[in-house]
This record gives sequence, C-alpha cells and structure tokens, in this order.
Amino acid sequence: MKKIIAVDGPAGAGKSTVSKICAARLGYTYIDTGAMYRAVALNNLELGIGNEELTEDFIKNIEIKLDEAARVFLNGREVTKEIRTPEVSRGASDVAKLGFVRKKLTELQREMARQGKVIMDGRDIGTQVLPNADLKIFLTATVEERARRRFEELKAKNFPADFAQIKKEIALRDKQDSEREIAPLAQAEDAILLDSTDLTIEQVAEKILELAK
Ligand code: DC
Repeated sequence: MKKIIAVDGPAGAGKSTVSKICAARLGYTYIDTGAMYRAVALNNLELGIGNEELTEDFIKNIEIKLDEAARVFLNGREVTKEIRTPEVSRGASDVAKLGFVRKKLTELQREMARQGKVIMDGRDIGTQVLPNADLKIFLTATVEERARRRFEELKAKNFPADFAQIKKEIALRDKQDSEREIAPLAQAEDAILLDSTDLTIEQVAEKILELAK
C-alpha cells in the first residue's frame, strides 16, 4: 500500500472531496495545504496587511494547525469556515506567490507528512513538497465543469453565487497559480493524470484507491 499520496491540480477539480474520501477509506490523515495558504490570507485580511507589508518574521510567528477532522486553526482559533470566502480565495492565491510564505508552509507540510499514511492535496505537493511521494495524482477538469461544481456547492449552502463570476475567478486563479515563479501549479513528471470532467466523485476516488494498492 502506498504510504504517501500527493494530489495536485487546479481549483475546484475535486481534490479535497476525493482526498477526504480516500483518506477515510485507507485510514490515512488528510492534509489540505490550500487551507494553510488560506489561513495566512485570512490573517492578512483581518489585520489589514497587504502582501507587500508581509515579512518573514511576521510569518514565522503565525501558528497554523490542522486537526484529524481537517479543521483549521489560526493562532489557536478555529477558522475552518472563515477561510472559504471568495475574498480569502483571492488572498490565498496572492500570498502563495511569496517565497518565504511557501518556505514556512512547505516545512510544516513535510513535518505533517513525516509519519506516513497521509494524503496531501495542493498545487506543488508532487513537485516540491513531497517529491518522493509513493503515488502522485494530478486531478483536472475543464474550467466550465469546475465552475459548475463550485456554483452548485455555494447554492447548496445558500451562499449567493453567480456562475459567470465564479468561472472568471477560477480562470484567474488558474492563471495566477500556474504562472507564478516559485512552485507553480504543475504536474510532476511521475504523476498520473486524472481528468474528472466526466467522472463522479466516487469514480475518481475508486481510481485513486486502486492506484494506492
Ligand atoms: O486548494 P485551495 O483552493 O484551497 O488553495 C488556495 C490557494 O492556495 C490557491 O489558489 C493556490 C494556493 N496553494 C498553493 O499555492 N500551494 C498549495 N500547495 C496549495 C494551495
């Protein structure tokens, strides 16, 4: 059985939903690295700090924790829900460009994966964070389909949602995450490409579980 599984891909491809299912079935820990970038972005927004004012020292003193239930804590306060707003999504993609932010979070992520039996999702897990992962998946779907999924998700939660706006924001994040200089969103050479456009969540999870055997 593969002990360390890396799942990368663009926003809304289904990485977190599928990774959670696989982690539960395998008895592994799920680690959502996007949530960590989101926590840094939330902290910035709450304190009114822009990217240009962020310093390495400041970042060093922020405490970010994920628990077994994938709840997210920022300086000891639970922020699981607060980090899911569109404003934080944008902020996370911005803050993810900074080398010293990536360095701190990458160290934390490697530490979290050290005990094995983990499934970690993000943008640079297979390429930078865990290049020796036993199984690497690159999960994609068309921008249209990813926007549709996010739209349905927001509607189900009774959040206001505008399909065209969501699609625009996803396309912008794709561009920003793929074109940044440090650790851009990219498929590792040894990653297996899974296109989830025409697959259900269950079908994608089944494929990953089969590959994990
Ligand atoms: O997966 P997500 O949408 O929660 O991620 C939020 C942002 O964080 C995403 O736009 C890019 C950044 N990110 C990253 O740069 N590297 C990761 N390993 C995970 C997320």
